[in-house]
Amino acid sequence: MMAKNYQGIHFGTDYYPEHWPRERWETDARLMQEMGIQVVRMAEFSWHKMEPREGQYDFDWLEEAITLLAQYGIKSILGTPSAAPPAWMINKHPDILPIDRQGRRRGFGGRHHDCQSNATYRKYITGMVTAMAKRFADNPNVIGWQTDNELGNSHGDLCMCDSCRRSFQGWLEKKYGTIEALNAAWGTHFWSQEYNSFEEIFAPLITVTGENPSTMLDWKCFCSDLIVDFQQMQIDIIRKYCPNHFITHNCMAFADKVNYFDLNKELDFASHDQYPGGFYAVMPHEYNHDMAANLDITRGFKHQTFWIMEQESGITGWEIMGRATRPGQLAAWAEQSIAHGADAIVFFRWRTCTAGTEQYWHGILPHSGNPGRRYDELKQMIARMQPVMDEIEGSMPRSEVAIVFSYRQEYAIQIQPQHPDLNYLTQVKKYYKELYRRNVPVDFVQDTDDFGKYKLLIAPLQYLMTPELAQRYFDYVKGGGRLVLTMRTGVKDAHNICMSDRELPGTLGELCGIEICDYDCLRDVLVKLDTSNLQVESAQVNVISERETGVESAAGCAGSKWADIITLKGAESLADYASEYYAGSPCITQNHYGDGAAYYVGTEPEEALMEQLMDKLLADAEVKSLGASEPGVELAIREKDGSKWLFAINFNEEAATYEVPADFEIVQGEVKGTLKPYEMHLYKKFS
Ligand code: GAL
Ligand code: ZN
Repeated sequence: MMAKNYQGIHFGTDYYPEHWPRERWETDARLMQEMGIQVVRMAEFSWHKMEPREGQYDFDWLEEAITLLAQYGIKSILGTPSAAPPAWMINKHPDILPIDRQGRRRGFGGRHHDCQSNATYRKYITGMVTAMAKRFADNPNVIGWQTDNELGNSHGDLCMCDSCRRSFQGWLEKKYGTIEALNAAWGTHFWSQEYNSFEEIFAPLITVTGENPSTMLDWKCFCSDLIVDFQQMQIDIIRKYCPNHFITHNCMAFADKVNYFDLNKELDFASHDQYPGGFYAVMPHEYNHDMAANLDITRGFKHQTFWIMEQESGITGWEIMGRATRPGQLAAWAEQSIAHGADAIVFFRWRTCTAGTEQYWHGILPHSGNPGRRYDELKQMIARMQPVMDEIEGSMPRSEVAIVFSYRQEYAIQIQPQHPDLNYLTQVKKYYKELYRRNVPVDFVQDTDDFGKYKLLIAPLQYLMTPELAQRYFDYVKGGGRLVLTMRTGVKDAHNICMSDRELPGTLGELCGIEICDYDCLRDVLVKLDTSNLQVESAQVNVISERETGVESAAGCAGSKWADIITLKGAESLADYASEYYAGSPCITQNHYGDGAAYYVGTEPEEALMEQLMDKLLADAEVKSLGASEPGVELAIREKDGSKWLFAINFNEEAATYEVPADFEIVQGEVKGTLKPYEMHLYKKFS
């Protein structure tokens, strides 16, 4: 196999030379080189600089920057500038500006002020990307491309203009074929919503009251497809002129406007923008698992290692700011990204900008441009990590546990949360967090991926069910898998219509050995549980948790938001309700089926319950933790060709401990088992 042109590149920064005087560029390049920077990303918002007037392309400045950087050994990635159409274009074609749900046209002056179906805009993009691609195709110092920037970001609603409406109609016609099929799928007999033709269908502008959940689900899926198509148009051009360059896109983990599994399909690798500091007053431990989850889902988009295209490099802030990053914290966050599968870390941004919205989103260099604390810290980190990155490159954790992530389920729950606080992502992350706290590596998978390699598969809120998906779950369990399904599973069909042919959870009732004929939406109340059947002998629990969780004892086990009142049809109960009129009815069940088992969790487990449930699941599935650690210390692993690298990272401001892994050699770090604040230890096990 031919080596990829990005192999061996591991550290970079996002650079905006056009924001600074030409005389400064050389200093920047030198400072970057001294720091160990190997690559920059440029130009993703520089449309006006590259086409100041219609048809007058100017790439000279960019080429000059690329050439200068190359003299310092730095390669370039170019961003297509389609997230920032310039004022001349908008004035000439105001219909490029998007229409929001209220029917208002959004103005110029921010970014992402573009309708993605707009034919005129697509023509301009075709012109720009073609010109850019042709110009840099043979430039030996350009190695790849980023399409647009964080597609799907920046507008609450996707555009609902006439052009988008027509595209939606076309998308629906392709999906349903006939208007009768659409009427049936959407249940338009309700409130006289039948359509006589596809041309009658609207974009879902704000209504007087209510909306059709089926329409909304299709709209969200359409918007996602539109973004994928918008990107594809750019990919096609770049592939044509620059066959040797890679193409990627900077995603945002769990942002939901576009299905990232789809968006990444035609890309060489996924990229992610990681900002642990966010706008938080502090970066509490509460968020460590969120950061890890961001990285794990990004790895899941292609089941492949990935890049961080923007890694936090200082205080975050637009109008308000987060806290200063503690000494060592930026390095620890970057190392966390590597630990979860990043092969390259590009820091955002090189130098803090002086103008525009992001004046307080701090770069490696401060406004003054003088290297300081952050520069030194990251320089040291790069010096430490660079020597091991080549061998680690391409290695992945081999997770025994997977969580199913589905945009369609998420959309459907967003459209009708049922309980006001029921949130798909929150639910997914509750399970994730419990695994994270135990240092159990997790993969995120699509519901079409291969489940077979996982010992434990957690599929929260499988609200929309199709015969095909149900079959996949049956097959997984039959083959020996342990599957966790939850409340609100099997409620609706693929079109977001309630199913009525049997009791909940529909066809999966047989797999779970249960039936649900009654349920309770737990408004402002927790339901108590008796979990005596859930207890596992601690000897069986192969994870050690020396954490002060602050979690109450078994007596305090509770569920929230929802209570499925379960009738056993072959399953055994692991936990019964202990309050409400259904006290004594099962809430959590287990059913042996084929060579495996299906668990059903009829509520959203509060912390103490989740802890007990996970003890049981991990013990049953014989899943191993990477080891015990104090709170705020994370263990993560990457493996390749029989070699393993184990990372221990301390996110605490104080020293903290972890269990030293057996059979590993320490390759970075001094006192095995004890980490200084924000320190990382790296272990290796040879094949
Ligand atoms: C990212 C974005 C960057 C910059 C950064 C800081 O989401 O891709 O362009 O805006 O946030 O706000
Ligand atoms: Zn539009």
